[in-house]
Amino acid sequence: MKDNPKRILVTAALPYANGPIHLGHLAGAYLPADIYVRYQRLQHCDILFICGSDEHGVAITIAAEKQGVTPQSIVDGFHAMNAETFASFGVKFDNYSRTSLPIHHETSKEFFLDLYQKKILKEKEEQQLYCEVNKMFLADRYVEGTCPVCKDESARGDQCENCGTWLNATELINPKCKLCGSTPVVRTTKHFYLPLGDFQKRLEEYVHSHSEWKDNVQKYCESWFKGGLQDRAVTRDLNWGVPVPLKEFSDKVIYVWFDAVLGYISSTKEWAQRMGSPDRWKQYWQDNGTRYIAFIGKDNVVFHCIVFPAMLMAKGGYIVPDNVPANEFLNLEGGKFSKSRNNAIYVKDVLKTFEPDFLRYTIAMNLPETHDTDFYWKDFQAKVNGELADIFGNFVNRTLAFTEKNFSGKVPQCGTLTARDEEIIAVMKEMPGVAGALYEKFKFRDGTFEIMNLARAANKYFNDSEPWKTLKSNPAQCATTLHICLQIVRTLAVLFAPVLPFSTERVWKMLRVETPLSDEQWDSAGAMKLAAGHQLGAVEIIFKKVEDAAIEAELQKLGVPLENSSGNAQEKLPPVKPTISFDEFQKLDLRIGKVIACEPIPKSKKLLKLQVELGAERRQIVAGIAEHRTPEELIGKSIVVVANLAPAKLMGIESQGMLLATHGDGDAFALLTVTNDVAPGSWVK
Ligand code: 2FM
Ligand code: ZN
Repeated sequence: MKDNPKRILVTAALPYANGPIHLGHLAGAYLPADIYVRYQRLQHCDILFICGSDEHGVAITIAAEKQGVTPQSIVDGFHAMNAETFASFGVKFDNYSRTSLPIHHETSKEFFLDLYQKKILKEKEEQQLYCEVNKMFLADRYVEGTCPVCKDESARGDQCENCGTWLNATELINPKCKLCGSTPVVRTTKHFYLPLGDFQKRLEEYVHSHSEWKDNVQKYCESWFKGGLQDRAVTRDLNWGVPVPLKEFSDKVIYVWFDAVLGYISSTKEWAQRMGSPDRWKQYWQDNGTRYIAFIGKDNVVFHCIVFPAMLMAKGGYIVPDNVPANEFLNLEGGKFSKSRNNAIYVKDVLKTFEPDFLRYTIAMNLPETHDTDFYWKDFQAKVNGELADIFGNFVNRTLAFTEKNFSGKVPQCGTLTARDEEIIAVMKEMPGVAGALYEKFKFRDGTFEIMNLARAANKYFNDSEPWKTLKSNPAQCATTLHICLQIVRTLAVLFAPVLPFSTERVWKMLRVETPLSDEQWDSAGAMKLAAGHQLGAVEIIFKKVEDAAIEAELQKLGVPLENSSGNAQEKLPPVKPTISFDEFQKLDLRIGKVIACEPIPKSKKLLKLQVELGAERRQIVAGIAEHRTPEELIGKSIVVVANLAPAKLMGIESQGMLLATHGDGDAFALLTVTNDVAPGSWVK
């Protein structure tokens, strides 16, 4: 990691311009990136935030074919829509470009030609899948089949969405043309290949020099290195994309992933041109003093940690990512977010009903930073009403309202400090350091949680100080309490600004601080800067609570029965069982088990047979969860197992233990899992 650099380049994965931005997108890359950038801006770093639409590739052409329109019209529509969504959600890019722009085509061609001229790209004749009905090679998503790794039946020709494996179409089992459903034949065609193997040593050194990267990213790279990096085709037989800049190959285009990652560079060039200093992009890409952070979702790891760095190394003179904070997936009401499965919540739709900060906070507190997480509408309501409104909003409101009523809206004098005063001032002063350290490590969920804890502590301080009593009995002490509370409101306005940019602006206005919030300094946000006597502005409620009816409407749109959404299960829970002694509890032996294999049980709708590694031994467990989880979803998961339950036979198959899960109806099912860094066999007590 580069020490305390002054210049930071942040990129967020370029979303395909073939559909609207959904909550899964936000949780994967855009919200964490935006929080990070806003936080660094409060540190007054020279930081540039780059993104844009990924407008090439088969994702776009298939969408166009389905709708009977041109690819250009698809990307024109979604580019504008998504740029608008990001702006309304408060994701503030310095530049949001498009890969169909000439500046991007030129940049990609130049990169390609440079690698070609250096003889790094290999020209090879290879076998590819060809559809005899449509008379075309089936590049990438034009072919679907069974993933050779996880056996998911909807793997595409370039990648399996289920397990993230980057595939060659010829590796698919039982491939089918996506356009006509026929089985393709194998034909030879000429393409250019990026010889990743030639870069393996440098890439390994690079990844190993970043032990601070997330575990999931490190492990994923490791599995690639272990398998040995192969040549990868970087051209395609398609007519939508960046044309290969060689006469003989002018009917082919550059592979979408080769051009997409270069979109970060061309977007930076576009920004520099807009700024009137066309060469300024070089500071961000070619100066070793710049720290480059690439925010992505986990399905993009190989392209950002292996392919793109290899391309940059091949070109020379460019910096490579200093960190690639890849998030896992955000599931929706217990299921996967997927546009194709018609199970997505689009941000533009949510923003018609709810404030962007409601969504920003809920997602920030639920970011899939170490494992997949779930978005539940009931949880959204609970977080907005119970945390934003009842904790942060309430503290701001009671402090300002009390000051308005009893001190004519002026910051009261700070008098002699009690031990309680000193205690809360200490918490306030240390909070920028505490939350900042977490943000530096890309732990946005924990950082946000800590800041909300300051608001929690501040409410307790207000209650314990009883200013409504001291107003008469000890006015100087009452003034001190309110003075301190107002300072905390100010501190919270700064510290919450990266997560809640819209609401904190409103708090800032209520405080009537003349300088903009953006002029504040994160590190000194805990200092007591409001002067006694300063006149505050009019008090307004910052968070209006979310009504049940609004949540019910959202659940209805998704087809989720209200009682199945998390948070509403309470009413249906059975009463707590009779008390047991500690000794009785100790008889239970709970262990962490890693699922290493799993298969359905023939003729059973409900049962799955799992092989679970339990430290020194392996167990076979039969579990009635087939209606809730597929074998693919379970393999690799670390679960909680009752290890000393007497074996039992289910449909004639022995079960040597039981796994723990919540038991609700329908979608309220949740498996108890832990992250994979807990060793199998670990004792749960
Ligand atoms: O997975 C995706 O949505 C890709 N469009 C991400 C591209 S990231 C980068 F290469 F631009
Ligand atoms: Zn797979």
